[in-house]
Amino acid sequence: MSVAGYAAEALSALTPSQLAFIQQLPKAELHAHLNGCIPISTLQHLAKDHLYSATPSSTSQAVKESLERLTSGVTLNEIHEFFSLFPAIYELTATPESLAVATRDVLDLFLSANPDRNGGYPQASYLELRSTPKETPRMSRLEYIETVCNEVERYDREGDRAAVIVSLDRRMTDEVAREVVECAIKLKKAGRRVVGVDLCGDPLAGDMDSFAKHFQAAKEAGLGVTLHIAETPDNPVPETLRLLSFKPDRLGHATFLGSEEKNFVHNSRMCVEICLSSNLLCKTVKSLDEHHIRHYLKHDHPVVVCTDDTLPFKNSLVGEYALLMAPAPIGLGLSEQEVERIAKMGMDSRFRSS
Ligand code: IMP
Ligand code: ZN
Repeated sequence: MSVAGYAAEALSALTPSQLAFIQQLPKAELHAHLNGCIPISTLQHLAKDHLYSATPSSTSQAVKESLERLTSGVTLNEIHEFFSLFPAIYELTATPESLAVATRDVLDLFLSANPDRNGGYPQASYLELRSTPKETPRMSRLEYIETVCNEVERYDREGDRAAVIVSLDRRMTDEVAREVVECAIKLKKAGRRVVGVDLCGDPLAGDMDSFAKHFQAAKEAGLGVTLHIAETPDNPVPETLRLLSFKPDRLGHATFLGSEEKNFVHNSRMCVEICLSSNLLCKTVKSLDEHHIRHYLKHDHPVVVCTDDTLPFKNSLVGEYALLMAPAPIGLGLSEQEVERIAKMGMDSRFRSS
């Protein structure tokens, strides 16, 4: 796996024994977006088939350009630029066959213990892979989730290493959001590996009031709920409080919480999903010194350390743990004992399939 940037720098600052410690530590990856974690080699392979079958068009050109951008490394000036990367990736995962290939390779990326990779240890001992179901000319939204579930269930037959979170995009219409939650509930009831629902997408889009009933329905059906929340300084406080009123089990990022929101989060013990490289690269956090993980660790509040999108961010779960352990200013300079405690909090915050 090609790791670059902050995570790579942290990895190279570790002693061999620190690296071995992180590799063997049982870690949960609970915040990884499927289409944001496809290995670049898989996308290149899918693009070859796609460009071959498509007549030359502006979309094929856009796919080519986006792949070149992703291969050479993405520099973002602010978080909104990040979302423009996805339409080209979606072109490549628009059929059940290509989505299945992408899902398999993402599972392998996180869960394979290939001896050539990470000294024979998987990046994660447990993965909750999230994705937003898209309707395409070849798939309904239900078929999209079934395709992802098929691959997850085939990869992890025992059912203790991987599960699926169904994402709702903030831009979804009320009707589509309802359909997506109904699909998630239907598959959970049928015993498929869906364990939760998520709210993601452009952090300033959409009206959050309309989502309340959908997350309520998901909770009543026994699905876990995680919400990307307060990702930017422009997310208004009333919106954040409204999202917190949905009583999510976990929160994505939670970067810009004021004191009222923080109190609510502390009292409800909601686990905060922390994505260090993602925050630094999207420039929502200036430096590790100012990162909100410090606040949660100081207050002994549950957190889980995750990658978010390994494709554009060129990070890995081991790399994110390296950022915890590497000496400051490259990392947070935490001790083995502290890192072990964080890893355990992550494992304890999994959504259970039952
Ligand atoms: P997908 O849901 O498998 O298609 O994964 C990619 C999608 O995840 C993107 O189009 C975004 O909607 C969402 N996403 C990825 N990273 C973030 C993030 O940091 N904040 C909000 N949404 C995100
Ligand atoms: Zn995310």
